[in-house]
Amino acid sequence: MTHEEAKRRIDKLKPLIEKYNEEYHVNDAPSVPDSEYDRLKAELIQLEEEYPDLKTDDSPTQRVGGPPLDSFQKVRHAQAMLSLDNAFDEASLRDFDRRVRDGIGDSFSYVAELKIDGLAVSLLYENGRFVRGATRGDGTTGEDITENLKTIHAIPLRLKEPVTIEVRGEAYMPKASFKALNEVREEEGGALFANPRNAAAGSLRQLDPKIAAKRNLSIFVYSVGQFDGTLDSHSETLDYLDTLGFKTNPERQRCETVEEAMAYVQYWSARRADLPYEIDGIVFKVDRLFQQEELGFTAKSPRWAIAYKFPAEEVVTQLHEVELNIGRTGVVTPTAILEPVQVAGTTVQRASLHNEDLIHEKDIRVGDYVIIKKAGDIIPEVVASLPERRTGEEEVFQMPKQCPECDSELIRIEGEVALRCVNPQCPAQLREALIHFVSRNAMNIDGLGEKIIVQLFTHGLIQDVSDLYQLKYDQLIQLERMGEKSTNNLLASIDASKGNSLEKLLFGLGIRFIGAKAARTLAERFHSMDHLRKASKEELLDVDEIGEKMADAIVQYFEQPEVSALLERLEQAGVNMSYTGPIREEAANEESPFYGKTVVLTGKLERFTRGELKDIIEQAGGKVTGSVSKKTDLVIAGEEAGSKRTKAEELGIDIWSEADLSPYI
Ligand code: IVH
Repeated sequence: MTHEEAKRRIDKLKPLIEKYNEEYHVNDAPSVPDSEYDRLKAELIQLEEEYPDLKTDDSPTQRVGGPPLDSFQKVRHAQAMLSLDNAFDEASLRDFDRRVRDGIGDSFSYVAELKIDGLAVSLLYENGRFVRGATRGDGTTGEDITENLKTIHAIPLRLKEPVTIEVRGEAYMPKASFKALNEVREEEGGALFANPRNAAAGSLRQLDPKIAAKRNLSIFVYSVGQFDGTLDSHSETLDYLDTLGFKTNPERQRCETVEEAMAYVQYWSARRADLPYEIDGIVFKVDRLFQQEELGFTAKSPRWAIAYKFPAEEVVTQLHEVELNIGRTGVVTPTAILEPVQVAGTTVQRASLHNEDLIHEKDIRVGDYVIIKKAGDIIPEVVASLPERRTGEEEVFQMPKQCPECDSELIRIEGEVALRCVNPQCPAQLREALIHFVSRNAMNIDGLGEKIIVQLFTHGLIQDVSDLYQLKYDQLIQLERMGEKSTNNLLASIDASKGNSLEKLLFGLGIRFIGAKAARTLAERFHSMDHLRKASKEELLDVDEIGEKMADAIVQYFEQPEVSALLERLEQAGVNMSYTGPIREEAANEESPFYGKTVVLTGKLERFTRGELKDIIEQAGGKVTGSVSKKTDLVIAGEEAGSKRTKAEELGIDIWSEADLSPYI
């Protein structure tokens, strides 16, 4: 390829990759499978390597994170980044509304928006190119975190128009990424993040952008700072930001009165747990900019906006004891057993204490009154103790030296905060391994709840996962809670699992660092257990998404003689060891009604489990998301579908019943 040809190809690839990136990360509606995006990106990386002079700062390849920095430069904001005044109840919202009406009369409306719980950032574009991103800092001076922000795919590196503009928004970590990140950290014995906001902030304050690049952050932008163009209203500003290629939050709504505003607060306060990201309130802003100007600012916040904060989901209760749980990898996690208490609509009786260091850092003692926090669907945690309520009876918690299950010595691996039981025969680990093996994304064996699993071990019916396939009717029927029907169902379910495609078995084996997604990638690539176990580290590293740590873990896993013996037993029992699932992109079917569509599943389904229907839609080239927005193309609503169905009706989105699926599935 000549230099000229390379340039032409690069000029074609860049906008195409940007378009796919935007569809996926901004619009939540990809039109091509991930593999197509990856293929084009790999081609661009290679061309840029061959012709380095053709590599530009705004190339889509520049999101991987450059070399680590020594420190962050200070950035002075051209316009101060203020914060908002808060309202905690209807009365204070009414006070705010009265002040607004006193200032500008009654002829105005508010734009209501979700208050995203992340961290405020400023994004500067010169002639359409992203040149600098900064934290809010103290409002006047922030830190230059450009390299970290570039790794966020929802931040365009180049705008649709060559404008010079400063845009502000909230960078955040989606709940699912937060959960996955903490799971990995827990497995690695690292300190856990307390909530998605801390995780997002922690990621963006890393000097090494490679860390932020791995953290799967996103952003919603909500305002414009320095800009020479003319915009008349906040709603127009948001629409304009959309057209420039930014991601704005789709749930915004116009409100004319306090009653409408409160209805919006109540609507979202009841549904915040369904959102895939955390919100901590609602923001109301006077829409027209000339009216905003008329109202002006106090020293620290605008008079034209207010943040209605949701009530704190924190309560005080007593910590009775600390229970120790041993995970599948031997990590010992302390859990607080609490006096039951209502928080965020549920009764909480257990809460995470994360690790021993944190217990001592927060000086949490057994018998203490403690503050419990529960946010959305996040596991409740103990935030702090209340030393002023101590009676003197409280006891400082000491981690035992021995595993409470198998008595072997607990070890603290260097660099980790967690203690581990390293006995591979520890019954707790074997039990957890089996719970994982039968779980839905793994072998999907129904009817094997925790209580039954514990009995299987205590009755000596099982030592490792392969023994599952040797279980007999006569053995199962003797267990508590096992009737004739449940025994037969369980045996049928165990039998059916033998036919699972390789990725389910791979995930179920619980190889360190291999989640469901990596397992699928490995199965698609190697097709059989035999090929995979013979793969060298280099061959593994050759696979997209498989990094150093994963490759090492796979090689080490298959080197163990016990693993060879286990796999042999599974194979003897008739468990399938090869990939039978379709290769996703081949299955993607342009004729399918789901191809390129964003679909939401809601209500009770009869014919399929949610997981099955999701697989079918994804294999046909569609995408399944959790919440209904104007970007949703189709809602499949089963029995008793609630708010999502209502929302879809409001937005005029197609709604199908399960029966409507019949011609296609
Ligand atoms: S508007 C003049 N809109 O909440 C302040 N802020 O104290 C303009 N936030 O610092 C902020 N979602 O970090 C605005 N939709 C939203 C927001 C939002 C989250 C954060 C932002 C700000 C804080 C308010």
